Amino acid sequence: MFYSQMNKEQLLNEKKSLDKQYAELLKKELKLDMSRGKPDTAQLDLSTDLLAVIKTEKDCYTEKGVDVRNYGVVDGISEAKKLFAELLDVNEDNVIVGGCSSLNIMYDEITRAMMFGVVGGKKPWGAQGKIKFLCPVPGYDRHFAICELMGIEMINIPMKKDGPDMDMVERLVSEDDSIKGIWCVPKYSNPDGCVYSDKTVMRFAFLKPKAPDFRIFWDNAYAVHDLYGEIKIANLLKSAAENGNENMPLIFTSTSKISFAGAGLSAMAASKANIEKTKKSLGIQTIGFDKINQLRHVKYFKNADGIREHMKKHAALLRPKFETVLNAFNTHLKPLGISEWSEPKGGYFISLSITAGSAKRVYQLAKDAGVTLTPAGAPFPYGIDPEDKILRIAPSYPTIPELSAAVDILCLCVKMSAVESYLNK
Ligand SMILES: Cc1ncc(COP(=O)(O)O)c(C=O)c1O
Repeated sequence: MFYSQMNKEQLLNEKKSLDKQYAELLKKELKLDMSRGKPDTAQLDLSTDLLAVIKTEKDCYTEKGVDVRNYGVVDGISEAKKLFAELLDVNEDNVIVGGCSSLNIMYDEITRAMMFGVVGGKKPWGAQGKIKFLCPVPGYDRHFAICELMGIEMINIPMKKDGPDMDMVERLVSEDDSIKGIWCVPKYSNPDGCVYSDKTVMRFAFLKPKAPDFRIFWDNAYAVHDLYGEIKIANLLKSAAENGNENMPLIFTSTSKISFAGAGLSAMAASKANIEKTKKSLGIQTIGFDKINQLRHVKYFKNADGIREHMKKHAALLRPKFETVLNAFNTHLKPLGISEWSEPKGGYFISLSITAGSAKRVYQLAKDAGVTLTPAGAPFPYGIDPEDKILRIAPSYPTIPELSAAVDILCLCVKMSAVESYLNK
């Protein structure tokens, strides 16, 4: 029976039963963590052989004869650029391969824009007074943390089923030249698993921002992270170039959740002008990234198809975890009519939408019962969920028995807070 159909007496009885179950839980002193989207050990083990593909000095040379043990090649070895170019469906000349973190490249791109400006801009972003970014919500907390650190004002843009609310994006960027960018995770977005439709991608390609130095930060972190077969999204870089917007998109990706989260490769793809500008300042920042790791990845995966095959092994490990969470939601929450959740076909997260005003309460109840969730509010700029109703669920790291125990507790906490809200109405 839906909680909304229960009378006061029924709700009080339900509360009594839930409180009793919760009190029993507290005695167990559990310690379960569903807070961050990390690959588990079995996933990391899938790539162990990658560590051994360079065995002798003979293995240390690229096709062009570059000794990867030495300084140089700031934008990445040609083979690694080719690998990412194939993966992102762009040209090799449009790619820079970086170190182990794409977040690091995004941070650097924003820092450079703040200090030196971008191609087509008259002044550095940091010399233009107050500047703003559009932030589709719920979104990735670390994107928002970069803006907050840089003093960039963030504007929430609601996410719809096929991507951000594009009417709002188009209107805002066309009116306000202090809006310099937007964060997008176009495939299996963090945390709601949304895949942008081709129409949404095209509307991005056709954007007509008032600011000549506007950039789309297109974080394709989950480009090949399909759980149920391949889903393709439209190619923003190509479409934007065809519409005279070639400098607008900056595409990012990494192998953090393909090979090793702490020792993978990252890449940026962009117009030649953008790549040249970044390369110039990169050459001052570093003499080069870890080319041994770049060559190791290329020798191990060989090409984009090699990566796609490898991702099927990740999917086999991740699928049952996503299904454990979704089955629990269907069993415990659906019959009560108190929540909605995303059912992602890939990526690393599920978004749970509960009774408004309850997310912080559920986070705390779960924490006290030994289950660490991503803090309520984290998927929003400044950590503020205006409705206090979204929780990000990260199923990848715990084992299935741990996950199952944790999600049952989460459901209990969701029920407790929902009953409390109905009783307080
Ligand atoms: C959307 C998104 N972008 C970037 C990252 C981090 O990427 P990297 O490990 O390449 O820095 C994550 C990690 O969770 C993510 O969810």
